[in-house]
Order: sequence, then C-alpha cells, then structure tokens
Amino acid sequence: MSFRGSHLLSISQLTRPDISTLFALADRMAVYTRREKRSRVLDGAILGNMFFEPSTRTRISFGCAFNLLGGQVRETAGFGQSALTKGESLYDTARVLSGYSDVIVMRHPQAGSVEEFARASRVPVINGGDGDNEHPSQALLDLYTIDKELQARGGGLDHFRIALIGDLRHGRTVHSICQLLALYKGVELVLISPRALRMPAEMVELLRDSGHTVIESDHLEDIRRTDIAYATRIQEERFSDPREAAMYRGRYRLDRAVYTRYCESNTVIMHPLPRYSLDQSGELSDDLNTHPNLAIFRQTDNGVLVRMALFALIFDVAGQLERHEQPLSWRSLRRF
Ligand code: NCD
Repeated sequence: MSFRGSHLLSISQLTRPDISTLFALADRMAVYTRREKRSRVLDGAILGNMFFEPSTRTRISFGCAFNLLGGQVRETAGFGQSALTKGESLYDTARVLSGYSDVIVMRHPQAGSVEEFARASRVPVINGGDGDNEHPSQALLDLYTIDKELQARGGGLDHFRIALIGDLRHGRTVHSICQLLALYKGVELVLISPRALRMPAEMVELLRDSGHTVIESDHLEDIRRTDIAYATRIQEERFSDPREAAMYRGRYRLDRAVYTRYCESNTVIMHPLPRYSLDQSGELSDDLNTHPNLAIFRQTDNGVLVRMALFALIFDVAGQLERHEQPLSWRSLRRF
C-alpha cells in the first residue's frame, strides 16, 4: 500500500514489502527513543488520540511516538468525557475531530466502528483497536519484536513456531497477528484456547491457505517445541456474562514451573499486556519477571519505534528525519 495519507484500519491492507519498509524505518527511530537526538520533522502537526475504551500503552505510546517526532497530541479518553454519550454519531464526531487534527488514532468497543469513523474523517485514521476485530499496530510491534528476538537466535520471520494462548476468539491482537503471519512462509502455529474461545474459523483457514501448519488444542502442554509463546488475557469486557469469563480465567497460566517443564530453553515469552495480576489466576505469572526470555517489556519499548515509523510513513517524512534533527540539551535519566 502507499502509506502516504492513508488510514491504517486492518492488517489486510499491508504487503510483506510494506512491513519490511516499516521495520527498517522503525530501526532508524531508536536514536530518538534512546534520547540521543531529537527530530522535529512533525513540528506543527497535531495527533488526535481518541480512546473510547480503556488503554494505557497504546494511547501513551502513540502519543510519545508523535511527540518524539516533534508533533503535539490532543486526547479524549473514555465515552464519559465525549459527546458520544449525548447521542452524537461517529460521522459527526469524525467530521469535527478531523477538522482539529492532522491524524487520528482511535479505539472503540465496537467492531467496524473505526472504519465507519475513518470514512467520515478528513485526515488519516489509525485503528487503535475496534472491539474484538483488529489491533493492527499491536500486531506490527509484536511481529517486529518476534523478528528481533528470532534474529538474535540466528532465525527470521519464515519457518518458526509460535503458540498463541488464551482468549483467541475475542483477542483482537491475535486476529491481527494471524493476518500478518499469513504473509510469511512455513510458520507452525499452535492455537491453545478453551474450546469456546477458539480462533475464528476464517483466520485458521487463512493461515492454512497460506501454507502454514495450524494445530488447535486446549492443552497448555502443547506449547512444547515453540520458538514464541504468546499469552493473552481473557477479554472479560467482551463477555455478556462476567461469570463465563471468570470460568476461563486461570485455565492457562504460564509460570516458571510450566515454562521449565514444557518450553525450550530459548522460547520467547510474549504478551500484548495488560496481564491480569490481581490474584494467582493471571495468564502470565510474575515469577517470570526476571527471566531473560520474557520479552513483554521489549515489546512495549518497540511499540514506540513502530508507531513512530507509521507516522513517518503516513506523513511521508522518512527522508527528512535527519534534516530536522536537533541536539538535546539534557541526558536521559533512564536506568534500564
Ligand atoms: C490489548 C488490546 O487492547 O486489545 N492491549 C493492548 O493494546 N496492548 C490486549 C488486551 O487488552 O488484552
């Protein structure tokens, strides 16, 4: 696709060369996220960050990515703070907000809503998660992380083994990841979920049609022999009966004992976050926090790089980054 001026609503818009372009540009953003330099290439531009569903990292990392390129950010968080609670249509909201900003990131609980919003928007819209449908920027940062982790082990994005674990029916990150993986070759997927929360059939079909091996299982032991173990949260907010969600929580818990027993010594542990941590029923135990193969905070760090690259492509300023660099008058105090 041509990123310039385009919406990013679904992974299905992207080709493999698009992803290579994006990842190469994300690599170039590391000097800025490490605070070695700053670029003011988006000086004067405004990002409208419109989050009508809870978010911590997606909202903040899109905002930081835009700030790190010199742009400004305006935010709405939650329905309660917006005129959507007064019965305003997505059409009107989009017409109005796109008159205030140069690009919009939007998250909304309804599948398809971001696309509807984008049709009325006068500026590019990035899907920050629409219901149980898609979360393209999360999948891109996940794939970027997988690429980095596999490269460090001498591998790459073709011919690797990945387990996706948890609520695969409602998890929008895994829906977008499957579409991304369909662009690569020889991936072996193990889809581990309770029977009622299986990956939608059309995703499984897409993966098989792309030549991948797909195994569906309801046993956590089947993470054996995988390069990547990607755990996900039970998406409680998508269930009509919260008791049903509670039934599934704790069904699969990746902890140090399970990891040591079933995983390879170099299996990378991933999760889009947030992970459930209020009691011992969470899907990814904090007893793995110091494990070197736990990549969850490398994922969140990489999210800023990938989102900066997305903005640079949408505004078509990748070639001007260096020209707009300025030295920093302070040094980063970040310790690790
Ligand atoms: C995910 C989401 O919102 O879909 N979170 C995120 O953006 N990193 C995953 C989740 O909420 O479980």
